[in-house]
Amino acid sequence: MTQETVTITDNRTGKSIECPIKTGTEGPAVIDCHTLYQELGLFTLDPAFVTTASCESKITFIDGDKGILLYRGYPIEQLAKQSSYPEVCYLLLYGELPTAKQMEAFTQNICQHTLLHEGLVHFYKGFRHDAHPMAMLVGVVGALSGYYPDAMDISQPEHCNTSAIRLIAKMPTIAANIHKYLVGQAYVYPRNDISYVGNFMQMMFSVPSEPYQFNETANKALEVMLILHADHEQNASTSTVRLAGSSQAHPFSCVAGGIATLWGPAHGGANEAVIRMLQEIKTPKNIPEYIRRFKDKEDATRLMGFGHRVYKNYDPRAKIIRGICHDLLQEMGATDQALFEVAMELERIALSDDYFIERKLYPNVDFYSGLILKALDIPLNMFTVIFAVARSVGWVAQWTEMIQDTHLKIGRPRQLYTGYQRRDYVPVSKRK
Ligand code: ACO
Repeated sequence: MTQETVTITDNRTGKSIECPIKTGTEGPAVIDCHTLYQELGLFTLDPAFVTTASCESKITFIDGDKGILLYRGYPIEQLAKQSSYPEVCYLLLYGELPTAKQMEAFTQNICQHTLLHEGLVHFYKGFRHDAHPMAMLVGVVGALSGYYPDAMDISQPEHCNTSAIRLIAKMPTIAANIHKYLVGQAYVYPRNDISYVGNFMQMMFSVPSEPYQFNETANKALEVMLILHADHEQNASTSTVRLAGSSQAHPFSCVAGGIATLWGPAHGGANEAVIRMLQEIKTPKNIPEYIRRFKDKEDATRLMGFGHRVYKNYDPRAKIIRGICHDLLQEMGATDQALFEVAMELERIALSDDYFIERKLYPNVDFYSGLILKALDIPLNMFTVIFAVARSVGWVAQWTEMIQDTHLKIGRPRQLYTGYQRRDYVPVSKRK
């Protein structure tokens, strides 16, 4: 079979090259133009990677036009309904759903790694009482790599796997300790006799002086939230993890880079920003004025939780979250019903407004996720930390896939230089 190609011709010189078209199992084909510089002396310019595939991957697929999200081929709707977060972790890491025996071994393995080194726990005290939890998370996860000399060699698959398990196991403990430190309560140690999510909830909310009352509705909502946020192919934070990892740095420090990237309001920080926006709007009658501001190019305010680089349709995760949000708020008797009503009305108005229709701006995962986290009593500034706990498996699965690639090369984007051409140094006495 002949290879399909795209011909690229430099019209200045008339020189051409044939670039192979590579087809994946789903999604648009790509032009493999890696010989472009060698053959024609040209780079490609694609700021923000709008049209550039940075790697090959078998983990997650998104069809942004149709609103489809698959983890290892399985639709997100089926996983959210039928799976558990640890099972999704197994799937993302190893490529297949586990048998009952494999799942038991995986769960036991996770349980063996939920504790933090006591030295690491001292790190928390170094932070100001009002530090942003994401600043603490970047620091503590970065520091993790200093504690495990037994798994530093990334050329050893067992070391990589141990690091992946440690990360998934310790993230809830690290996150819950951040919350406890900031509210001035005692750290609660992990319990390995209960579910991953149940353990996370008890570390967040129990206190040593009384028994903790588990709430199944709350646990289920958090479980689904973790599943929905577990991976999302080559987004900004995952690409950061991959780029850092391409230098063969330790996975924990690469993940710390991913966490720093996730913090921004254009990425994972949006869930926090959505709640602040809804609180500011306060009541449905103020929505038209805010819609006007969101559309005004002179005003930097954006409709947070709307729009996505890839989804030009309803984000499938937002659809699932919207459903559980409704049920959770009813059952938990949350005081946030009013904010949910503002959110639904805001969505309705935006989706019928030409500005949002023309630009294909739909609710993304963050539009309703903050309402769930708020109903679970998770403080606003912890929202992105919860997202990071969920995404840690995606980061480490993507890192593992990259590190196993025998053709791995350090990532090194090029640039179009637009600064000064060569010029001579002028001594200070002669400068005007
Ligand atoms: N409110 C108002 N206008 C918007 C919004 C928004 N939320 N999002 C995009 N637009 C407009 C832009 O102003 C632009 O208009 P123009 O063509 O007239 O200049 C057009 O839609 C395209 O927007 P871009 O910024 O070019 O789209 P991009 O793909 O770069 O950005 C992003 C995607 C960052 C998510 C953007 O939609 C946004 O800022 N949304 C709000 C923040 C948010 O919810 N982030 C969470 C994303 S999901 C996640 O990371 C988990």
